Amino acid sequence: MTKIVNSWNDFDPLKHVIVGKADFTVIPDEEPATSEKVPVDSEMRGMWGPRPTETVEKANEALDRLAKELENRGVKVDRPTPIQWNQAMMTPDFRVPSGQTQMPPRDILLTMGNEIMASANSFRCRYFEYLAYWPLMNQYFEEDPEFKWSQAPRPRLTDKSYKHNYYDEQIALEERLERTANLDFVTTEAEPMWDAADVLRLGKDLFIQHGLTTNRKAMEWFKRYYPEHRIHAVNFPGDPYPIHIDATFVPLRPGLIINNPERRLPEEQRKIFEANDWQIVDAAPPAHKEPPPLCYSSVWLSMNCLVLDHKNVIVEASEVHQLEQMEKLGMNPIPVDFRDAYAFGGGLHCATADVYREGDCEDYFSTQVEDPTLV
Ligand code: NVA
Repeated sequence: MTKIVNSWNDFDPLKHVIVGKADFTVIPDEEPATSEKVPVDSEMRGMWGPRPTETVEKANEALDRLAKELENRGVKVDRPTPIQWNQAMMTPDFRVPSGQTQMPPRDILLTMGNEIMASANSFRCRYFEYLAYWPLMNQYFEEDPEFKWSQAPRPRLTDKSYKHNYYDEQIALEERLERTANLDFVTTEAEPMWDAADVLRLGKDLFIQHGLTTNRKAMEWFKRYYPEHRIHAVNFPGDPYPIHIDATFVPLRPGLIINNPERRLPEEQRKIFEANDWQIVDAAPPAHKEPPPLCYSSVWLSMNCLVLDHKNVIVEASEVHQLEQMEKLGMNPIPVDFRDAYAFGGGLHCATADVYREGDCEDYFSTQVEDPTLV
């Protein structure tokens, strides 16, 4: 019998990974979750429907390039089974005119040791996205007797889960930033909601971003579900749309993290890193002034890299500053041309989900500090 699933962090040697697919990706209609999360100046606002075929083809070429690079380096790559997202979906609580995609598996799948858990996303249009990964989960389940196939409690996503008219389109950026800095987000505390890409796994410690897609109740849920782990709530003032931690706070190897200089971790939350000799350095600036067309992520996808081991890291090929910084930090950057996939939900880290990395659940933070954000 084979061990298929094992991963406790984002930097131990990667051996097996899932790479998303762009087929049938739809720009979702507005809903209480997304209307607050698509930046007001994004071209995507006010549109919905299948993404242009040519852009889907180009995104798939970028994803295939990534898959090939990984395979050439001896990493096994699996792909999800695309679903026709351009169809209405309903539950007893809501109805949406479409789903979204199976491109960023990182948002949906959380690997914790021998367990892969489907998350409790707050977008209604992403409610059924996990199904694209179920054939793979079933295969791992058949092949690996230790694999734990699980799913977080499914949120109901009724209107109670969102603050309505939370953001008026007219509000100034300053007010938006003030609200996010004050932990005032569109999602309520009605039920636990979380995206897997808000969870930074560092062995025994989980650093979870409180933002537009993950609430405090989720952290309480994590604390009870993983009693052997330590749960830390983190937030990053400076981000007007805090969604997912992996263009903000990205570990490269044990002891080293790059942090988005426009979204620095507050002093108080740094203490645990300082007490354990972790270095947090400002990430290099992005090479681009604007995201690509119809993209709802920021230019900071520049730092959304995929670490292959403590030395090698895949970085988007046009991100010259990030590539250079990696070398300065003692890493070996591997460029992959990936920008055509950005509009489909993110960069190189978003586009993947760990199946197997070597290594065990380490305690990188043996010196715990008084931390008022600990839930
Ligand atoms: N919401 C983040 C992307 C996370 C991968 C950003 O736009 O910077």
